[in-house]
Amino acid sequence: MLSSHFMALETGFDAPALAAAPRMLASGFEQDLVRALVVRPHEISPKYFYDAQGSRLFDQICELPEYYPTRTELAILADNAADIAQQIGPRAEIVEFGAGSLRKIRLLLDALEAPARYLPIDISGEHLEGAAADLRRACPALDVRPVVADYTQRFTLPPPVAGSGARVGFFPGSTIGNFTPEQALQFLQRAAQMLRGGALLLGADLIKDPAVLHAAYNDAQGVTAAFNLNLLARANRELGSDFVLEQFAHSAFYNAPLQRIEMHLVSRQRQRVALAGEAFELAEGESLHTENSHKFTIESLRELAGRAGFRAGPVWTDAQNLFSVHWLHAPS
Ligand code: AVI
Repeated sequence: MLSSHFMALETGFDAPALAAAPRMLASGFEQDLVRALVVRPHEISPKYFYDAQGSRLFDQICELPEYYPTRTELAILADNAADIAQQIGPRAEIVEFGAGSLRKIRLLLDALEAPARYLPIDISGEHLEGAAADLRRACPALDVRPVVADYTQRFTLPPPVAGSGARVGFFPGSTIGNFTPEQALQFLQRAAQMLRGGALLLGADLIKDPAVLHAAYNDAQGVTAAFNLNLLARANRELGSDFVLEQFAHSAFYNAPLQRIEMHLVSRQRQRVALAGEAFELAEGESLHTENSHKFTIESLRELAGRAGFRAGPVWTDAQNLFSVHWLHAPS
């Protein structure tokens, strides 16, 4: 059993003091990591995985034999592209949340009837512009309009182009599972407003044999472990901390009551870490909780979407029921 986690040593830091003085810390990452080392339970947002190295490692995860979600979702989209395109209808505006490499939308584009515009949204402008340029080269007829924004926060979309059809959101990859249930509901509520009169095409990973889940997050090549540990490597690179990576173990397990994979970094020994001019002591076995990846049933996902104002439409799955892609009607 992992117990009391990290402790601040002789720092004078406490949670209220941190909340009152966030500007003393250099970046959101530094502030959040210091907070994670001070406050119990010790946890940090998985968004900090994704620097350039973390994004490369995530791309490698998607190719792993054990990591079924990516290839399964790609196959569902490819196998059902005609059906999905029929739901989307002619002259649609497709809004992709957290667009990344824009690989998945390509599976649908050929099947779509004269899409009016494609709006990929991503927080990383440089990455997004590069991916958009590649897509324009591959599909010169498509109007690609990248939007640099944090889609987990409130943001505004450009007005629809004249004569366009429905506005359809696309949120693949089961990234919805990395949110807390409250964040997931809030994201879906905002999406329902933004997509009024249209729909959301949403990928969600399904509850299954825990052994399959366990293997997907504990791959034999250790790529997921490297992805998890990169959070500490990133802190050393960007914040000048002195985490010794070998002194932390990757831990990923299925928490059945909460229906989620949890990822942690567990201290292998008693140790001290320097960060932001302070020292933090870690006991042997203490853990930093780095990610939750919630799994759904078709019904639980539909129920969540229903609470946000969506009306459930068709759902597409693979033959083994590993993954699901949902058509959700936004309110009119
Ligand atoms: C991005 N996200 C949906 C992945 C997941 O499965 O939760 C991130 C990941 N974490 C470990 N492996 C993959």
